[in-house]
Amino acid sequence: MAIETIRWKNSRVELIDQRLLPGRLRYIACSNAKDMWEAIRHLKVRGAPAIGIAGAYGVYLGVRNTRAVRFSSFKKDVDRTVTYLATARPTARNLFWALERVEELVARNSGKSVDQLKKMILKEANAILDEDNRICRRIGKHGAKLIKKGSRVLTHCNAGALATGGHGTAVSVIIAARNKISRVYADETRPVLQGARLTVWELMQENMPTTLICDNMAASLMAGGGVDAIVVGADRIAANGDTANKIGTYNLAVLAKYHGVPFYVAAPYSTFDLSIADGRGINIEQRPAGEVKSIGGSCVTVKDVDVWNPAFDVTPAKLITAIITERGVIKEPTRSKVKKVIGK
Ligand code: MRU
Repeated sequence: MAIETIRWKNSRVELIDQRLLPGRLRYIACSNAKDMWEAIRHLKVRGAPAIGIAGAYGVYLGVRNTRAVRFSSFKKDVDRTVTYLATARPTARNLFWALERVEELVARNSGKSVDQLKKMILKEANAILDEDNRICRRIGKHGAKLIKKGSRVLTHCNAGALATGGHGTAVSVIIAARNKISRVYADETRPVLQGARLTVWELMQENMPTTLICDNMAASLMAGGGVDAIVVGADRIAANGDTANKIGTYNLAVLAKYHGVPFYVAAPYSTFDLSIADGRGINIEQRPAGEVKSIGGSCVTVKDVDVWNPAFDVTPAKLITAIITERGVIKEPTRSKVKKVIGK
C-alpha cells in the first residue's frame, strides 16, 4: 500500500508535513480552512492531485461549523471558502477541479438540509481521495506497457505517493513497470528539492534501484546513453497537450528530443484544462525568493540578490511522446487526440 499522504482521522484532516522529509515523517492536523490554505501554500502538502484532495477537505473544514440554517446562506459560506482556498496556489488544475466538484455538488442539492449537505461534502472529499488511488493504479498499468525491458528511467520533481492519493502518477508507472526497470534516476529538483527529498525517499522504500542526480547532470547522462525513458507528472495540461509541470521539466523535454529519448507525461483527467487552448494560457506560480537563495535553510548567495523563481514551466505538446492517463494513452498529443480521450 502507498503511504497515506493525506487522511481523514479523528474529525480532522491529517497530512504528512512534506517540508520535513526525508528527515522526519510527521503528520500535522488541519482543523479549519485557514490551516489547509497554509498547508497548501507552504508546501506541507504539494503535488497536483494531493492539493486537489486537500482542497476538497478544506471546504468541509471551512463550513462544518457554519451557523447557516438556510440553503442560500450555507451556499454562500461554501462559495466563500472555495474562493479563499482557490487562492492558495494557482497552477495545479486539480485544486480548482476539486473545489468546483464540491461547489457543484452543493448547487445540485438545494433541497437538502445544511447537516445533510455537510455530510455530503465530507463524503465527496473521501471519494476524491479513494478515486485518486484507483486512478493512480490505472495510470501505472497503462504506462508500464510503454517501458521497455532493462530501461533506465529518469524522473523529475515528485509525482509519487506524496503527490497523490495512491502510488503517484509518474512513480506509479515506474512501480508498475518495476520488473522492466534496471535503474531510476531522480533529478534533485531545485529549488525545493522534491526529487532529492521526496522521490528518492519513496523509491528507496519501494526498493527501486535509485540514483540521485543534480538537475544539471541530466544532459550528460543522456549524452552518454544512460537514459531510456523519461516519465514526469503534470500540474495543468492545456487542450492541445501543452503541459505545465515543475520547473526544469521543459529542459528535460528539449534534451530528450535532441537525444532521441521518449518523454512521457503521466496525469489524471483532473489535471486537464480544456478551457485553455495552449500552454500560453497557463498561470505559472511565482514563489518566494528565499527558496532559491537558500538550501536547507542556509543562504547560499548574496542576501540581497534579485531572484526569478517560477515554480513551473510549460513543455510544448510537440516534445511529448505520450501523455499517460487513466483513460488511456495519448500518443503524440494534439488537440483532437486530447479531446477524444479526455473531452467527454
Ligand atoms: O510545487 P509542487 O511540489 O507542488 O510541484 C509538483 C509537481 O510539479 C509534480 O510533478 C506534479 O504536481 C505532478 S504530481 C503527481
